[in-house]
Amino acid sequence: MHRAPPPMPPKQRGCRLPPRGVGDTCCVPSAPIDAAHPFHTTFVRRDWGKAAFLWHSEAMPSTPYGLRKRLLAWAMAKGGPRYERLVEDRKRQLFPHAQGRVLEIGAGVGPNLRFLTGVTEYVAAEPNRFMLPYLQAELKRCGLQGAVIPQSAEALLANTPEAAFDTVVCTLGLCSVSDASGMLRTIRRVLRPGGKLLLLEHVGAETGTGLCACQVAISPLFWCLADGCKPNRRTAQAVEACGFARVQLDEFRLPLGPIAPHICGWAER
Ligand SMILES: C[S@@+](CC[C@H](N)C(=O)[O-])C[C@H]1O[C@@H](n2cnc3c(N)ncnc32)[C@H](O)[C@@H]1O
Repeated sequence: MHRAPPPMPPKQRGCRLPPRGVGDTCCVPSAPIDAAHPFHTTFVRRDWGKAAFLWHSEAMPSTPYGLRKRLLAWAMAKGGPRYERLVEDRKRQLFPHAQGRVLEIGAGVGPNLRFLTGVTEYVAAEPNRFMLPYLQAELKRCGLQGAVIPQSAEALLANTPEAAFDTVVCTLGLCSVSDASGMLRTIRRVLRPGGKLLLLEHVGAETGTGLCACQVAISPLFWCLADGCKPNRRTAQAVEACGFARVQLDEFRLPLGPIAPHICGWAER
């Protein structure tokens, strides 16, 4: 008797993705990664975008020996001093606002520690374990009392009570978190009333400019190599929109090609 062959599974196009909802970080997010900017909507919808997302995300086994994270830590340690010379004056003006109990988000190799002189207690959320030796050494060098939590800020702050910190510091960090607006709302929640978020970030260029187009074009590369960094993120707009009582941000440029546009300043709860 002739039996019909079993039906073939539907053919998958492009890179294979696990089904949505499987695992916590396994799938391309259903919401745009940065709702404030349409590029990411387009980006995650395309196959090469999915591949890049998987390359960055925990969904894909990380590179052997954590190569990308290791490389970023090395690059921040080696290339950081040049960048620091460009922003030193701004940091000197900004960080006297850091008082009392301070949380730093994405502390990296610790370039801000030497400016944090008015701090009584310091907590850093830094998920890249290859940054930690540099960070610990810098903490020691600066004689700062503090705890380094090897976790993402999202994980750390999920169980942090409201108004737990006097100051939150974030430099070159909001470009890397997956949901900047969500992170800003969380920061606002964990700041005491009157407490300040201190920021220094590279940001997206004005829409419609050549620089903006360039930032969009290089985004996948940055995403892969710089641990999820989005050069075209609209951070100033996200800060303005998330309900702080007062916001003071300066816009300026550094001679850094596609990541020239920067903001520096504070937002008060
Ligand atoms: C470009 S580095 C900047 C480091 C440092 N703040 C500086 O100014 O040199 C971005 C840092 O944010 C960290 N980071 C990325 N995602 C994070 C998250 N969700 N929570 C906390 N830190 C994060 C990275 O591990 C990295 O150390």
